[in-house]
This record gives sequence, structure tokens and C-alpha cells, in this order.
Amino acid sequence: MARTIFVVGSSSGIGLEIVRLFFSKGWNVVAASRNPSASEDLQALRSQDSARLLLVALELSSPDTFSPALDAAVKAYGTIDVLLNNAGINIIGAFELLSQENLRKQLEVNFFGPAQLTRLAIPHLRSSATKSGKQSLIIGITSGSGHFGLPLFSFYTASKFAYEGLTESLYHELAPHGIAVKNVVPVGGIRGTKFGTNNFPDAEPLLLATLMGQQPNLSGEEPERRDVLQKYVENGAKTMGKAMTMSDQAEGAKSATDVAEAAWNAVDDGESKFRYFVGAEGHPIFEAKYGETCNDEAYMEKARQFWA
Ligand SMILES: NC(=O)c1ccc[n+]([C@@H]2O[C@H](COP(=O)([O-])OP(=O)(O)OC[C@H]3O[C@@H](n4cnc5c(N)ncnc54)[C@H](OP(=O)(O)O)[C@@H]3O)[C@@H](O)[C@H]2O)c1
Repeated sequence: MARTIFVVGSSSGIGLEIVRLFFSKGWNVVAASRNPSASEDLQALRSQDSARLLLVALELSSPDTFSPALDAAVKAYGTIDVLLNNAGINIIGAFELLSQENLRKQLEVNFFGPAQLTRLAIPHLRSSATKSGKQSLIIGITSGSGHFGLPLFSFYTASKFAYEGLTESLYHELAPHGIAVKNVVPVGGIRGTKFGTNNFPDAEPLLLATLMGQQPNLSGEEPERRDVLQKYVENGAKTMGKAMTMSDQAEGAKSATDVAEAAWNAVDDGESKFRYFVGAEGHPIFEAKYGETCNDEAYMEKARQFWA
């Protein structure tokens, strides 16, 4: 019997590639998106075999959309075997210049929404494991930003550290229930996504201008504030220069397809690994944290033994 995956954030980038890959492997795919009828890519895929691709509406900052989406999946396919938390946003800018409202939005989409959706999905995943005798899975698409701090990306980094912390705990907590928890960790910019442009509207204007290579006009500012802003502009330009060396434009940057393949491996390999890094090799900060192998398997093995 075909297994069923529920993919959150499926209209573009990594989520869309994950939908395509699992669909091509014969899975039932539930593609959750804020506005599924607007996605030509999802509609085109559905026209190939409408019975195996269900499009559902889900907005991560509106928890009342979660149960109807999960219930529609169970009604269509009887079960959910894999929950794939992929959707994410990145509100960039200097911490001091962004608002608490921005921070709540960042955490709502990247952390509180996925946390509540996961809580609601657990009974379905547990029942799937019990009935099938196979592990069910919760897979997250996190980020290098869930592992190291980046100036001017503090909101995003906070949200990804939060999701990493939550799921590392759930890894141990849900194993006895037959539910494997794993994260795919793309490090650096990923080609073939809309992550940059999708997030521009929320970016802090000063940093966005710097990012676009413009010199913001600060002449109308009070001298003291102008000095502060000027520091952010200079720091922004420096940070962006460094970030470009690991952006989606950099040589050797991984693609959305690479990340989708890592997600497939995480579901298919039957291993008890927690993290699947994509593009971590040779990254100086990653090497400093995880050694030349750029993996955390020895650490997770110790943690597994401790909590067993
Ligand atoms: N691109 C990169 O360089 C990169 C690097 C590391 C990690 N990541 C992570 O990869 C994941 C996928 O991003 P991507 O690169 O594929 O970017 P993307 O093309 O912008 O896709 C992100 C998806 O998130 C969904 N989304 C955004 N706001 C949402 C909301 N309020 N409610 C529900 N869904 C929402 C959107 O799905 P719908 O339009 O279908 O609703 C969108 O398709 C993210 O978690 C991101 O943090 C990306």
C-alpha cells in the first residue's frame, strides 16, 4: 500500500521538490500550502494522477487551519506516515531596528505553528506506526542558522535553534512510540528556491537597501542616530559580503533537489540518524563545531545511550 507524506510549504523551492520526488516514488502526497489553487506547479502535477496528490490549505500563523488539513489527509488516505515541516520565513535586519511584532511573526511561522501542527499530527503518526509495523517520521527542514549565530539574521537564527531544540528532544521522546524525528539541515543558500524574494517584503528597509548594494540616505537623521545607522549599514555590507560566499549564487551551492533527496534518504534509509547535513562540508564554522566530518552522529549516539 502506498505510504502518505504531508508536506508543509509546498508551492515553491524545497517543498515543491519534495512533493515532486515523493510523488514520483509512488507515494500519496498531501501538499499543504497557503493558497493551493494558486500554484500552477502543484496543479500541473495533480493532473498526472489526481488520486495521489491532495492539495490542502494551511497557514502556519492560523492554527485553526491545521486540524481541517490533517483530517482531509486522513480522510483521503487513511493515515499520515510522514509529517514534513518545510515551510519557513526569514525576517532579516538589525535586531534593534526590527519590532517585537516582527519577531512574533518569525517565531509563529518557523516555530509555534510547526510545533502545534506536530502536536496534532502525533496521534496520526503513532497510529500509522502501530498499524503498519513501520516507523513513521517527523522531518524538519532546518538550516545552518539552527547551529550557528549570524549577525543581522538573529530572528531567523532564534527560530531555527528553537525548532532544532524542540525536535532533538522529541527525537528521544517519540522513539518509543515508533515515531522517528529527523532534521535535514541545508547549510548556505540553496539554488532553485524563492527564499530571497519571498522574504523581501518583511526585511528591515535599511538592511534590504544594503543587501541590494544601495547606500541608504541617512542625511535626514539626527547625528547620534545617523552614527548608529551608519554602523548597521557598514556591518550589513560586510556581513552580506561574507554571506555571499555561501549564498545560492556561490560556486558549489546545493539545490532544492539536493535537499529533497536528503529528505528522501532520511525517510528511506531506516537509520537512527537525527541530522542530515546538506552543504556543510568545508564550511569553517561547521568544521569548528562538528569537526572535519561535519556530522553529529557520535554526539547523538552518546545522547541516545544516555536517554535510553
Ligand atoms: N533557500 C535557502 O537558502 C535555505 C537555506 C537553509 C534552509 N532553508 C529552509 O528551507 C525551507 C524551505 O524554504 P525554501 O528555501 O524552499 O524557500 P521558499 O521557496 O520561500 O519556500 C518557503 C515556503 O514556506 C511556505 N510559507 C511561508 N510562509 C508561510 C506561512 N505563513 N504559512 C504556511 N506556509 C508558509 C510557503 O509555502 P506556500 O506558498 O505553499 O504556502 C513557501 O513555499 C525553509 O524552512 C527555510 O528556512 C532554506
